[in-house]
Formats: sequence, structure tokens, C-alpha cells
Amino acid sequence: MFGKLKGFQQQGSSVTIRFEQKAATVDIITPGIVRFFVPFTAKQQPSKAIEQLQKTPGSFTVRSGNGEAVIETEKLTVRIGDDFRTTVLDKDGRVLSEDDPGTAAPFIRRGAGEGLELAAAEGHKLEAERNKLKFQVRKKMEHDMFFYGLGEKTGHLNKKGYHYKMWNTDDPSPHVESFETLYKSIPFFIALKDRQAFGYFLDNTYESVFDLGKENSNYYAFGAVDGNLDYYFIYGPSAKEVVGGYTHLTGTAPLPQLWTLGYQQCRWAYVPEQRLREVAETFRRKDIPCDALYLDIDYMDGYRVFTWDKKKFPDPHKTLQDLREQGFKVVTIIDPGVKKDKGYPIYDQGMAGHYFATDKDGLPYVNKVWPGDALYPDFSSHKVRSWWAANQKIMTDTGVSGIWNDMNEPASFNGPLPDDVQFQHDGVPADHREIHNVYGHYMAKATYEGLKKATGKRPFVITRACYAGTQKYSTVWTGDNQSLWEHLRMSLPMLMNLGLSGVPFCGTDVGGFGFDCTAELLARWIQVGAFTPLFRNHSSIYTRDQEPWAFGEQTEAICRKYIKLRYRLLPYLYDLFHQEEKNGLPLIRPLLLNDQHDPRTYEINDEFLCGDDLLVAPVVTQGEKARAVYLPEGSDWVDYWTKTVYKGGQYIIRETPLDVCPIYIRSGAVIPLYPVQHYVGEQPVTELTLDVYPARKGIRSYRHYQDDGESFAYRKGAFNLYQFDVTAGGDGKTIRISAEKKHAGYEKGYRSFRFIVNQIHPAAITLEGEPVAFSDSGNQTVFTVKKTGEVTIQL
Ligand code: GLC
Repeated sequence: MFGKLKGFQQQGSSVTIRFEQKAATVDIITPGIVRFFVPFTAKQQPSKAIEQLQKTPGSFTVRSGNGEAVIETEKLTVRIGDDFRTTVLDKDGRVLSEDDPGTAAPFIRRGAGEGLELAAAEGHKLEAERNKLKFQVRKKMEHDMFFYGLGEKTGHLNKKGYHYKMWNTDDPSPHVESFETLYKSIPFFIALKDRQAFGYFLDNTYESVFDLGKENSNYYAFGAVDGNLDYYFIYGPSAKEVVGGYTHLTGTAPLPQLWTLGYQQCRWAYVPEQRLREVAETFRRKDIPCDALYLDIDYMDGYRVFTWDKKKFPDPHKTLQDLREQGFKVVTIIDPGVKKDKGYPIYDQGMAGHYFATDKDGLPYVNKVWPGDALYPDFSSHKVRSWWAANQKIMTDTGVSGIWNDMNEPASFNGPLPDDVQFQHDGVPADHREIHNVYGHYMAKATYEGLKKATGKRPFVITRACYAGTQKYSTVWTGDNQSLWEHLRMSLPMLMNLGLSGVPFCGTDVGGFGFDCTAELLARWIQVGAFTPLFRNHSSIYTRDQEPWAFGEQTEAICRKYIKLRYRLLPYLYDLFHQEEKNGLPLIRPLLLNDQHDPRTYEINDEFLCGDDLLVAPVVTQGEKARAVYLPEGSDWVDYWTKTVYKGGQYIIRETPLDVCPIYIRSGAVIPLYPVQHYVGEQPVTELTLDVYPARKGIRSYRHYQDDGESFAYRKGAFNLYQFDVTAGGDGKTIRISAEKKHAGYEKGYRSFRFIVNQIHPAAITLEGEPVAFSDSGNQTVFTVKKTGEVTIQL
């Protein structure tokens, strides 16, 4: 396709490589991130995922060697030969990734005659032939490789041996591991080889495919049906650095409002108004914390977006105001499909402004969704996004606190949108093939910008469809799962891979959307939900009730226990988001992200880390009364419930009665805690609790962040930052905890600090030399200090 290498030329951080047939560009973005680009389509377009490309290439050289162009950055050597064959090596000369020189050797799909039609007649979905790819990049596969990322794909954590497609798809049948597509398209993966990690990001919005050794175990490959060859190599060597590099390109999720980390209750649908109020009242009466209630499609007037059904909600403003007084924020669904209905302002405005996608002849394109005949706003156009953004005010003026964008793959009930549906795409017309995968992304972006303008607060948007980079605008959920144990099990690798794909704010429908939940399943799912960034219980119309109290007292008590634990942990989760906004690291993580040195962590599907220090090993199998837990090597781990200490690098068996979700704290950790409240902001938090798990020796630091929890003032310095250094003497005689306020910008700082120090028996405790009263309950020593300073614990 490219032919022999003819020469190269450097210009700034770019190197243009000339081949017999074509030219390619290699761009040094940072010493560890290199972009490979070939403009196959005539039009040059800015990336839809990368909005602010910050280049810091460092010093690098370009030379020729053995008939190849050789680029050396501060971290990598990139060799480019004939046919644009590339090899990437680390500084020690070890090959990280190398193009496969052979030809594609797909496995054979045998079939004959009318078999395909017959199988289809019975309802089987067979694929005799796949869409033809415009290009495919094939890399040599080594024996011991592991693959992660690719967004929310079904199946297990390690994607080796599987083939996936990026084409946003609304498929309500039970999600199983054979699904190649789902609602989101994030064409990015991380590879792990010889304990070194690197990633590939294919920035192409057309249908793309990723074959991670399914077609042939000698190579892994990615390609797309159209568009440009435009991909990035992102070096680690740690998986954390790869995620950091990827989010350096596509952006991190902004710090959310604190209440969005509280418990959220959804249902299709809480109508009429009385039912919504009844649910709200039950939460408070039953002493189960909850911050958000959702309104699904039935609150609208005939499914017309930005309207209210006045029979079900005669005075929505009043309803929402009353709920707000009880501490509830209301989130409403807004789908993209605009009902075809003359006289309905949104439709009329859309028609007058030419805001809808059109067919190939330029006529507004019509398909069917909830409201019947409906049109699709062309979110690829800036003008349409501004209009849609402005419409958000209709909702916020009524008192709505967040917007839920659904059906934005986009979904359609009357067959898929044809390839030739046209989008304006800011003056560079594009067809559906190019826009499909970014339709939801652009919708979420418009919603985010509208909410930001209307409220001045950090917007809360939740979207089902997304592309790489959507994390800058929205949280996501994994769509229509079902109340199946298999779906609880699968949600863990799905969320872990979403996190590795740059989407930290994610969750599943807790309890399952379709099918009927059971008492035991809800109890176990709530235990997982308590640690997932988005903690939202949701279920479908006509399924049995799924609120925390719907299954009787035992389940209700378990739900209450874990929802309360979640509220205790809010400052820990918020600290993680504060860090994530800078480094892109997810909250819910596969064990390998922190413990890459330990290969036994590489394929653990049913445990996860919440941040650096909290390991959760939930029960995801019906009836399981004990489970094996792997504790990564190199740390001691403390059972959160019993305070028993275990050495890492081993499997242990943990008993798991229904109310116990096994949780382990990495020794050395400091976990900040808040008092339990019914909702965020019920009472001002004047005391911060620090749950300290001292290591046997050495120093561990923890930084805690605090701000107003809702505005953007933190970006102008209105926040406090506290640092806690815990130093164990090593002689077993003293522990010092130094607490320091590193940044003071938020006036409502804490008035006191309550320390819970685990597994010690002090003789005396002093703060700056003054004695401090304490209690020692056996496992835990508790004391409170009124100011920051150095605490010395004599053992
Ligand atoms: C879709 C959504 C689901 C929602 C339903 C009705 O199936 O995924 O969450 O409840 O539509 O709006």
C-alpha cells in the first residue's frame, strides 16, 4: 500500500515520511506518545476526541539507519521501514510493538448453500462476511500478552483472543460475552507484555474493529471501514502511565458535584407525581440515604422532549422544589428523538433552523423512537449544539439538577439509520457512517455546556452512548443489563475496562434493568454499587419493584448498611475524583493497575480496587457463602470488618454471609470518612475522620481535598488541601501522624480531626507535646484533635 521508503523530513515535532505511493506523518506528542497519521480521506478534520492537544515532545532525533527512518525520543525508539512498517522499542532496546510482516491469515468460517438464511430464519445471528476494512494495522503478538480497555465490552477483563467492533449499538437482548458491539465506542486498548504496558488509540469515528488474537494468535490488529489512518502509540511502562497518556490526549473527567456521588434511585418510571413523592418519603422514613431521584420518559407530554405531562405533574416546579427541601435532586431523561409534530416548539424550531439530520436528498430524516415519528438533531453542528444547550434551561428553570441522555447511539425502532443520512458537521458534510459513533458524544457535550451556562454549577450529565473523550462531559452507565447474576459478574470487568478507557465516572443499573431482581441479588449488587463511582439503582417498567425496601427487612437492612458505608466514604471518593481530574486514573480499577509487578493480578475478574487502597472482593454468585480472595503481593492487607492482617501474595478464603462484602485495606492507607447523612449537605461537615492503617515501617502520605462541592470556584483556588504523613518508627515504639494544611482557599474548613488508628495499643498520645485523650477498644484507638500539627503515638 505504501511501497518503499523514499525519504523523510522533520518539521518541528513532526516527521513526514515519503514512500513510493503515499506519505505519512509521525508526530512526537510527548517522549512517550507518538502519533501515526495517513490522510486517506481528502478532508482533514480536527479530532472529535482530542480537543486540546498539548505537545511536549522533549528532545528527539531523526536519522536513517538500515534503510529505515529512526526517531529517538527521550523514552522510545521508533523505526519506520518500507510499507510504513513500524517498530517501537524502549530505551533498553526491547521491542514493545512491531508491525506483523506477514499477510492476514484469518481463520476459516465454513458454511454452505442456504445455511445462512436457514439459520437466520430460526433467529440465529450469523455473520458470513464482515464489512470490508479500508485499512488494518497488524502487530506481532507475543505469547504472554494481555489486553484491556476498549470501553464497556462484555466478557472478561483480559480481551486477548476476542474480536470487537466499534459501532454504537442499542441491543436490549441480554448482554453476553459474544456481543461485539454495545452502546459505546472507545477505540483504545492497553497491552501488557513482559510486565510493560503500552496502549494504542485509533482516533477514527467510523466503524472500526479490534482483533486481539482471535483471527490468528500470531498477531493483533485494528482497522476501520473508512476515514484516516490516525493512531497513537502510548507508552507506559506502567498501565497507570498509559491511562495517563490516553487522558492527556482525550481529557479527564471534571470533578463532579459531591451529591452525584451519593446514592441515586431510578425507575422506569416514577409517575405520577405522588409516586415520586412516595419514594422520596420512604427513603427518609426508612433512614436510607439518597441524593437523587430520576424521571424516565413518562414524565413528558407524549414523549416530547423538554415538556411535562401536566396530568402526571400538574406543577413540576413545586414538586421539585418540595423534593429539594427534603434533600432530593431530580434528574430527568432527555432523548435525542424530537417528535414530528407541527406546533410543538422544539420540532418547529428544529425545522425552521434546519437542525435535523437529513436524508441524501436534503429532506429531514424521519425514523421512529418513543414518540413515534421523530427526527434526529444534528449534534455534529455547532449551531445545533448551541440550540440544544440553550434548551437545557427549560429543565433547570423547573428545578431539574441533572440530565440523562439516552437512546443516543442513536437508537431507532424502524430499522437502522441508512449510511447516507447527512450531517452538517460544521461545514464539512458527513454521512451517518462517520457521525454515528460520535452522535451521543456531541449530544452529551451540548447538554454539558447548556447545564453549565444555565446553572454555573458542575454539570451532571449521564449518557448511554459515547466515544473516546466523552468523559469530559458526562458520566456513563452500561445500558440495559438484566437482573441476572451473570450480569452482576460481568459488570466488574466492564466497569474496570471502562475506567482503563478514560471513563472514571461510570456505573451499571444496580439490581439490573430488565427481568426481575431477587432479594439476594439486590443485596449483593448494592454491595458492589457502594464502591462504583455512579451508584444508581434502576429497573424497567413492569419489572418488580427494586427499591432498597422492596424485598423485605433483611435485604433492606443490608442495603441501608452499604448505602451508609458509601456516605461514610464520600470524601475518599471525592479525593479520588480530585486526583483523577489531574491524572486520569479511574476510581474502580483492576488489581493490575496498582500491582502490575504481580502477574497474578492480570486476570482477576471478580475483585477490584477502589482507588489505591481499598480492595473489594464482592460475592457475584448466588448462594456463595465463602469465596477465594487474592491479595496482591508487596503489601499487607487488613480485613475491613475483622481487622485481621494478611500478607499479600496469597489467596485466602473469606466467609461471606449475605451481609458481608469482603473489603481489604492496604496497610499504610489513610481513609477519610464523613458522618453518615441522609443526603449531601444535610449538615455542615465540621469534623473529618481519618481511618488510619499504619504500615509496620516507613512513611505513607495521604492528601485530602475539600471545597464547596458544587461550583467551579475551586478552579480559582477556593479549596483546602490537607496532607497527612503517617510515619512508623520501625522500632515498633512510635507512630507519628503529621497533619498539615497545604492549601487554604475554602473558608469552611474542618474544626476538628478524629483519628481512628487500627491495630495499635498506645501508652500515650501527644499533639505538639500536649497530651491527647484517647480510647483503645482493642482493634482501634480513637482520639480527636482540634488543630493540625504533629501527633506522636507512643506504643
Ligand atoms: C432505555 C434505557 C433505559 C430507560 C428506557 C426508557 O431502555 O436504557 O434506562 O429506562 O430506555 O427510557
